[in-house]
Amino acid sequence: MEAGDANSRQIDGKDRATQSLLNKLIRSNVVNNTNQVEVLQRDPNSPLYSVKTFEELRLKPQLLKGVYEMGFNRPSKIQENALPMMLAEPPQNLIAQSQSGTGKTAAFVLAMLSHVDPSLKWPQCLCISPTYELALQTGKVIEQMGKFYPEVKLAYAVRGHKMERGIKIKEQIVIGTPGTVLDWCIKLKLIDPKKIKVFVLDEADVMIATQGHQDQSIRIQRMLPKGCQMLLFSATFEDSVWKFAERVVPDPNIIKLKREEETLDTIKQYYVLCNSKEDKFNALCNIYGAITIAQAMIFCHTRKTANWLAGQLSKEGHQVALLSGEMAVEQRAAVIERFRDGKEKVLITTNVLFIPFSSVCKFCIDVEQVSVVINFDLPLDKDGNPDNETYLHRIGRTGRFGKRGLAVNMVDSQRSMEILKTYERHFSKKLQGWTHMISMKLKKSPTEVMKSEMHSTLFS
Ligand SMILES: Nc1ncnc2c1ncn2[C@@H]1O[C@H](COP(=O)(O)OP(=O)(O)OP(=O)(O)O)[C@@H](O)[C@H]1O
Ligand SMILES: [Mg+2]
Repeated sequence: MEAGDANSRQIDGKDRATQSLLNKLIRSNVVNNTNQVEVLQRDPNSPLYSVKTFEELRLKPQLLKGVYEMGFNRPSKIQENALPMMLAEPPQNLIAQSQSGTGKTAAFVLAMLSHVDPSLKWPQCLCISPTYELALQTGKVIEQMGKFYPEVKLAYAVRGHKMERGIKIKEQIVIGTPGTVLDWCIKLKLIDPKKIKVFVLDEADVMIATQGHQDQSIRIQRMLPKGCQMLLFSATFEDSVWKFAERVVPDPNIIKLKREEETLDTIKQYYVLCNSKEDKFNALCNIYGAITIAQAMIFCHTRKTANWLAGQLSKEGHQVALLSGEMAVEQRAAVIERFRDGKEKVLITTNVLFIPFSSVCKFCIDVEQVSVVINFDLPLDKDGNPDNETYLHRIGRTGRFGKRGLAVNMVDSQRSMEILKTYERHFSKKLQGWTHMISMKLKKSPTEVMKSEMHSTLFS
């Protein structure tokens, strides 16, 4: 592999890990999904169990209490099928894929806690996560869910956790990153891998995007005993993830839950012809003058434009939040959270919210209540060409939350008009231009035209 290639994979892995962490930091609820769960059983003759309640799983009372204390009333869609499989006797292997936020982590944490024998004082469940931060997040879930089961202890195999060689650890569950877990098993001999009963590989897609993690994970897996239950989770399933999953999880059951498709069906799309950045700002003010906007998200191409626009809008008295790529992940999470809570009504951002990786978006952050999306600059890929996927993710909505929305594209050059046309063609949807509408309805002022148009869009 070329050095540059390795480098880009590294960055990709880092971006994915950041995005995954961001998702967790701002998540307020489990993501509902109306798509069918696809289940592929290793033994197609064995009955397929799914549960609608946590009671049906016959969990230990301490764990059921923990689950309810976390505010879970019923299993999420993926949990309905994954939990009975993971808790079955004899243990079954599982590869599960579903969008971020659908309850995968909660599912395997419950499985690990259920399989532990608290009277045995050695590691029995081993979970690996791609990064330090993600391992801590999962650890927190284990601690919360196991709150009423204090006999079960957890150890963190992460960097900075200095351990002495050869002292066997007593915690029944170990969560860590691949490198440190390997050290704990091989170099320091703190864990006897032969005693592991449940092995979880979480966030497999992030894992394989990070240089070295794939090989380390495979090395760990090879040390485990034959009867060890292998579980692998991923938010996405590119071919590379499949290949990896099949190497580390023998004879798996497979559960897949597709992400809900986004559509532009319920979105009214417009464009406004402008001459300059200042002109775009005026058009924006016109829009604000024309309708009451609950919340808007405004996308700019560069950080410089985003900063400038934030300044201009603040001067106009708007409460503006600014989100950009150089901010630390916690800072970004805080900004998105404030916006979601309605503390700011306008969110200006460069493309950092959405990192479309392959054909379907998996790492989008849904801010469902946003009613207006403004492309202050049209989305472009890194080579400056139209980027259909990003256009869809910025303004699209999933069917389930198919609320009406309004999208306004600012067009300021021949080139951006051409780009807009390609979006029109790609999505087979003709966009209405305001100048056009205005000329059709000469008797009204631009603001009035916008006003009536937008009112009919948003409130009819
Ligand atoms: N059955 C449930 N009922 C209510 N909330 C749930 C349920 N299961 C999980 N949650 C909550 O939903 C959120 C997402 O769950 P979880 O982290 O397990 O998803 P995930 O699929 O692992 O996401 P990711 O791919 O980002 O890791 C968490 O806040 C979790 O507490
Ligand atoms: Mg998870």
